[in-house]
Amino acid sequence: MVIRYFYKSRSTYPHYTFHDLDIMRSALRVNEEKNINSFLLRSDSAYYQILEGEETVVMDLVDTILKDSRHFDVTTLLTHEIETRYFQDWALGMRVLRPADKQIHTQLDQLSADSDMATKHSVVRDIHRIATRYHQRDKALPPRKMLRSDRTRSLASA
Ligand SMILES: Cc1cc2nc3c(=O)[nH]c(=O)nc-3n(C[C@H](O)[C@H](O)[C@H](O)COP(=O)(O)O)c2cc1C
Repeated sequence: MVIRYFYKSRSTYPHYTFHDLDIMRSALRVNEEKNINSFLLRSDSAYYQILEGEETVVMDLVDTILKDSRHFDVTTLLTHEIETRYFQDWALGMRVLRPADKQIHTQLDQLSADSDMATKHSVVRDIHRIATRYHQRDKALPPRKMLRSDRTRSLASA
C-alpha cells in the first residue's frame, strides 16, 4: 500500500544552514534508493515534510526522522493511502519559505493534528502547486543557468 505522510516539526537551528544541506544529501540518496518521494518546506523555525511511498518503507524512515536531533516537537498531520503520488518528480524537493509564501506559511503555522481533514488535504495540494510552479520555472531556465543538477531537484533558492 502506498501512503502519504505529512508532519510538521520545530527546527533546532534557526534559518537555513549547512544542517539542511546534510539532510538533503542523505535524503536524496536514501529516498531514491527506497523509492520515496518527498517535499520539505523550511521556515525560520519549522519544517513541514510530505513523504510518499510504500507504507512500511515510509514508516521505517519516519521512525528515523522522528529521532533526528535537528528538529523536535514532531506532529503528525496526515497519514493516508494514495493512488497517485503528488511528488513523483522529487526524491527530495526543498523550498525555504520566503515572504512571497506568506499565505501558505500562515496556513502551515495554524495546522495542528486537530485541524479538519479537508484543511489538511487542501494544504497538501497547495504545497504541490508551489512545488510544481518552481519546478517548471527551473526546467525553463537555459542549461547554463541551472545552478543545480536536475537530479537534486532542489528548490532551496527558488
Ligand atoms: C526535517 C528533516 C527531514 C528529513 N528528511 C529525510 C528524508 O526525507 N529522507 C532521509 O533519508 N532522511 C531524512 N532526514 C534525515 C534522517 O533523520 C537521517 O539523518 C538520515 O536518514 C540518515 O541517513 P544516513 O544513512 O546518511 O546516515 C531528515 C531529517 C530532518 C531533520
